[in-house]
Amino acid sequence: MKILVVGGGGREHAITWRLAQDAAKHELFCAPGNAGTAALATNLKIGAEDVMGVVAWSLAEKPDLVVVGPEAPLVKGLVDELAKIGVTAFGPVAAGARMEGSKRFAKEIMDAAGVPTGKAETFTDAAKAKAALPTYGLPVVIKADGLAAGKGVIVAETREQAEAAIDDMLVGNVFGAAGAEVLLEEFLHGEECSILALVDGENAVLLPSSQDHKRAFDGDKGPNTGGMGAYSPAPVVTADKLPLVKETIILPVVRELKKRGIIYRGILYAGLMVNDENSIPHGPLAKSGSTINVVEFNARFGDPETEAVLPRLGGDFATALLHAATGCLKDEDIVVKDDCAATVIIASGGYPGVYMKGKEITGLADNPALVFHCGTKQEGDKVLTSGGRVLSVTGLGANLREAVDKAYAGVDKIAFEKAFHRTDIAHRAFERG
Ligand code: AMP
Ligand code: GLY
Repeated sequence: MKILVVGGGGREHAITWRLAQDAAKHELFCAPGNAGTAALATNLKIGAEDVMGVVAWSLAEKPDLVVVGPEAPLVKGLVDELAKIGVTAFGPVAAGARMEGSKRFAKEIMDAAGVPTGKAETFTDAAKAKAALPTYGLPVVIKADGLAAGKGVIVAETREQAEAAIDDMLVGNVFGAAGAEVLLEEFLHGEECSILALVDGENAVLLPSSQDHKRAFDGDKGPNTGGMGAYSPAPVVTADKLPLVKETIILPVVRELKKRGIIYRGILYAGLMVNDENSIPHGPLAKSGSTINVVEFNARFGDPETEAVLPRLGGDFATALLHAATGCLKDEDIVVKDDCAATVIIASGGYPGVYMKGKEITGLADNPALVFHCGTKQEGDKVLTSGGRVLSVTGLGANLREAVDKAYAGVDKIAFEKAFHRTDIAHRAFERG
């Protein structure tokens, strides 16, 4: 197949790499890709958010499939535009991508579909939002409705923090239009888990569970990041629980969207909060009897979850994506291997704040782990850093310990000035025993 992958991060490198593992040889392109994808595909000088650039290339080149990595082009309607010129794309149409693009819309769908989630209300008026705070207790979660580059969620521990977050969004407009509406949401206790479901408009096949590590530093300390590591499977949602997640969360959403005329195809990523015997009971647990609540939906593969999940898939990945994109997905399209995967992100010092770019990276060749590039740039025969998250290093093993050791053996070989990484990836799985 001739396939274009849109995006240029670790997720897109992992998607491109997994497509290159298929038995059938594909002709692969990335827009724009990075120094890692350049070894597997032709990188195009087209930005991931350049909808018309991707459409013009597709019109001329007629790919069999376009796989859209990030949320921004989905929300901007890239898949809708490609459909107009008869090009098949993996990813939801803009109306479906609102599951990620508007937290209010996602709540509306979840409520209509009876999907367990925290209680929430939307406000455009700061005084009214503040007046409603006491009903939520503390901590309380304040969320910008729209896309805010992963920064639009504040978990407020005190009333003062909550009021400041409401003022920042509704009065200070720190997130612009994305924060013109805010949600107050009940704080959910428990352990998070990411479920990526392949959806074809009607049916879904769930990929194995994974867990992200959002905080910058060991022990889940420091600021929130795009994700500092992941592992799969995550024992918080074992494979035997996946049918429950499919029946109570994924399929009800897909059906509710269809009822509204939205045929959702692509990845529906459910960010879950699992409240099992290790956690404190809370409202929705009592109300719905569910120990699993949805924290958020995303309309795309997670990053870095993808770098841990895709290496565990066997079978023909391009066919699975094509089947989802054309409404004929089958359970057999996804084959999951028995091994475990762990992914460690190597980031630039200062990330997620200010960091430097252009540092030479060594230790990439003959690395014992799978090294996916997140923010890199080729300059002559050198690979330089060009982002906050620089590399995503994945180890595979017969068990999680082996996978983690393999990933860190890979990390230890790599160096660049002011590099840092977490040393405790998968700690929750080990703590569970
Ligand atoms: P979101 O962008 O909605 O995934 O939120 C980012 C992060 O904030 C989540 O991954 C959680 O760690 C945290 N979070 C969001 N909503 C809640 C909630 N209702 N209860 C507890 N934590 C939350
Ligand atoms: N790793 C979290 C995300 O992709 O949104």
